[in-house]
Amino acid sequence: MAAELSPIDKAKFVAAKRAVDFVQTGMKVGLGTGSTAAWMVRCLGERVREEGLRIVGVPTSMRTAELARQVGIPVVSLDEAKWLDLTIDGADEFDTNLALIKGGGAALLQEKIVATASDQMIVIADAAKEVVQLGGFPLPVEIIPFGWQTTKALIEEVLVSMDVMGRDVTVRMNGAAPLVTDEANYLVDLHLKRIANPRQLAMVLNQIPGVVENGLFIDICDIVIIGHGDGRVTVRDINAGSEHDDRIEFAPSANIFADLGD
Ligand code: 5RP
Repeated sequence: MAAELSPIDKAKFVAAKRAVDFVQTGMKVGLGTGSTAAWMVRCLGERVREEGLRIVGVPTSMRTAELARQVGIPVVSLDEAKWLDLTIDGADEFDTNLALIKGGGAALLQEKIVATASDQMIVIADAAKEVVQLGGFPLPVEIIPFGWQTTKALIEEVLVSMDVMGRDVTVRMNGAAPLVTDEANYLVDLHLKRIANPRQLAMVLNQIPGVVENGLFIDICDIVIIGHGDGRVTVRDINAGSEHDDRIEFAPSANIFADLGD
C-alpha cells in the first residue's frame, strides 16, 4: 500500500508521523484540517489505540471531528477544553519567520481560534509549501454572507494601497453557489502573488466590516516539521532558533490507510 503513495503524500505522512511524537499523555490537542492534518489524526489515533495515549482532541472542522472519532480520539469542544497544550495543523505556505497562509481547506476560522488558544502550534508540511515571500497561494478571507459583494468590493479597494503584486479577488465556489464554511460564512480568495507586509495586510483586512478573519497566521506557529518524499523530516523551531533532520521509517500500518477523508 505504501508503494502506491506519491512522494508528496509520503512527505505529508512523515511530517505528520514526526509531529505526533510531540504529543504526551494528558494533553489537550488541537487537530487541524486538510490532507496533511488527516495523516496526523490517523497517526495520533494509532497511538491512542496501541499505546493507550490519553488525550482529548479539539477538531478545527466537522470533517476532522468525524475522522478523529473514527480513529478513536476522544473529541471535545474548545469551550470544554478552554486552553490547549498543542495544535498540529497543515499550511498552504510558510515563510522563514513561520508566518503562514492557511485556509485552502476552508477551515481557517476555527483553525486560527484553536491555534491561538494553544501553548504551542506545530505546522506539518511538505517542502513545496516553504516560500521566501507569502502570496503565491491565494489568501483566503472568511466573510459573512450578508452584503458579501459589498465586502468583496471593500477588500478590493483596500488592496489598492497595499504592497502586493496581484489584486484579483474571487469568491470560493461549491458548484454554482458560494462555498459555505463550517461557520456558515463565505470565503474570498485574494490572488496577491506577493505580500510585502503580511502583518499590515492582516490588520487592514480585519478592520473591514463583513470580514470575519483572514488566513494569515502571524506569530502563531512555533515549530514547522517539513516532510520529504524520501522519509527525511526537518524540524525547525523558531523560538529555539534550531533546525535538525530526522528520518522516519516509512512503514505505516494498514489501518492508517483506511478511507482518508481528505
Ligand atoms: C485548511 C488548511 C490546510 O491546513 C491547508 O489548506 C493545507 O492543506 P493540505 O495539508 O491538504 O495541503 O489551512 O483550511
